[in-house]
Amino acid sequence: MRQTVRYLRRGSVVSLEGIDPNLTLLDHLRIDCRATGTKEGCNEGDCGACTVVLARRRGDDLVYMPVNACILLAGQVDGAEVITVDDLADGGALHPVQQAMVDHHASQCGFCTPGIVMSLFALYQDGARPVERQAIVDQLAGNLCRCTGYRPIIDAAKAACAGRPADRFCAGREARLAALAEISDSEDVFLGTEARFFAAPASLESLIALYAAHPDARLVAGATDVGLWLTKKLDDIPKLIWLGRVAGLDAIVHGDGGLVIGATVTLDQAAPALGALDPDLGEVMRRFGSTQVRSSGTVGGNIANGSPIGDLAPCLIALDSTMTLRSLAGERRMPLADFFIGYGRQNRAAGEVLTAVTVPALVEGQHFRAFKVSKRFDEDISAVMGAFRIAVADGRITGARVAFGGMAATPKRAAATERCLLGARIDDPATWEGAIDMLGSDYQPLDDMRASAAYRLATARALLEKALFEIGAAPSTLTRIIGHREARP
Ligand SMILES: Cc1cc2nc3c(=O)[nH]c(=O)nc-3n(C[C@H](O)[C@H](O)[C@H](O)COP(=O)(O)OP(=O)(O)OC[C@H]3O[C@@H](n4cnc5c(N)ncnc54)[C@H](O)[C@@H]3O)c2cc1C
Ligand code: FES
Ligand code: FES
Repeated sequence: MRQTVRYLRRGSVVSLEGIDPNLTLLDHLRIDCRATGTKEGCNEGDCGACTVVLARRRGDDLVYMPVNACILLAGQVDGAEVITVDDLADGGALHPVQQAMVDHHASQCGFCTPGIVMSLFALYQDGARPVERQAIVDQLAGNLCRCTGYRPIIDAAKAACAGRPADRFCAGREARLAALAEISDSEDVFLGTEARFFAAPASLESLIALYAAHPDARLVAGATDVGLWLTKKLDDIPKLIWLGRVAGLDAIVHGDGGLVIGATVTLDQAAPALGALDPDLGEVMRRFGSTQVRSSGTVGGNIANGSPIGDLAPCLIALDSTMTLRSLAGERRMPLADFFIGYGRQNRAAGEVLTAVTVPALVEGQHFRAFKVSKRFDEDISAVMGAFRIAVADGRITGARVAFGGMAATPKRAAATERCLLGARIDDPATWEGAIDMLGSDYQPLDDMRASAAYRLATARALLEKALFEIGAAPSTLTRIIGHREARP
């Protein structure tokens, strides 16, 4: 049992002992390390001023992940290299990204600049070239700048990422990989006392045993929800069990039953595999939070939080996914649709951990559509999220799974609507228009500051109509503003 959290910074190993389980990485950096280049803005993962980069080994590779330090726990950097804006300059020379920001006049008050530099530093290291404008815009979706305007920032990004990455981080890559290997082990980590601790078990067996001993502990995966309970609700969470070191929970496997996604697979890692199932799912993932949120947040966390407005649950319910749960009592599987039993209540027993979700691939004749409607295009929670899997044979609907987020206290299927759709001719709206009206009996939508109940119901009807129309229309019919449907094979 290791009683320290170890990470790498500026070529040296930092060991943390006796830290409070609720300490955020941002407070650790700014207060304990005096690394004050990293800023605190919103303290809730929205503005990106606190962005730092975690470099981690993935196989033989080194991946650079921009994360929001304000909602990440200090303990979650175990085994990573932490790179902050204070670490980029090489002697007196600015890093190429910093220099490009200067050359292109990409900063005014400068408060957002450290975070923007770190997001672009991660893009710079990514190595994929050429870097398209859209990739830069996506990378910066979680970095808000109120005074400069994005044009010069995008110009700086284009200039910095014009050539292959060649900085001292590239030059020192092998040494850094070796140093990261030195601090990675398969020891369980436990800091604190039985009454107040941060634990990071290294195996599923250790996790299950620890959680059984402390069923009142809070599991934490990416902390993009849990972190906000600390910084915004000012909760005190005495017992925290971080899942990020549990071996095997971070794998994506293509099995017989479909895509098996481990619970701690990050949203960023899951995005390509989900996008390969259907382009609409890829688009949902692109618009999920921000690069920083997707680098930390996990698929398991997005399901287990039971949010009625989470993006993945409606999509995965429509795809007839199942989830796997594990506890001392053994393993059980259930349809994801049965997991959500009421507002804030899930079908999860004390001591039970979600270990994976299995997503079946679409088969011949099945069509999938998913649409996210939110007030902002980027980095916003859905007002309504609609996902549909419609099976069509000989022009008639032979199977329908219709699921919505934002329409009830939980992500929920539209049972009456689904029944009504069966037998309708997909190319004849007159045969399925009545089914769309059934959404009014399937749901009593949420009514809150994101959207009124009436707006949500009208939007849900429009989304289902759009999906059915699109599936039934000739492939050449243009139905999207951004016309990615035309490119669909
Ligand atoms: C700025 C911002 C933007 C966001 N944008 C979106 C968005 O566009 N769409 C969206 O859906 N969400 C969004 N979110 C919410 C959040 O990022 C996601 O829900 C994310 O997937 C949560 O995953 P996590 O690993 O960070 O969960 P955590 O915060 O670690 O945990 C969330 C909950 O799940 C439980 N939990 C986690 N893993 C497990 C497990 N394996 N077994 C059992 N319980 C578990 C935890 O105990 C906790 O109750 C956003 C959040 C922020 C801060
Ligand atoms: S301070 Fe705004 S995202 Fe962290
Ligand atoms: S330079 Fe002022 S907020 Fe971006």
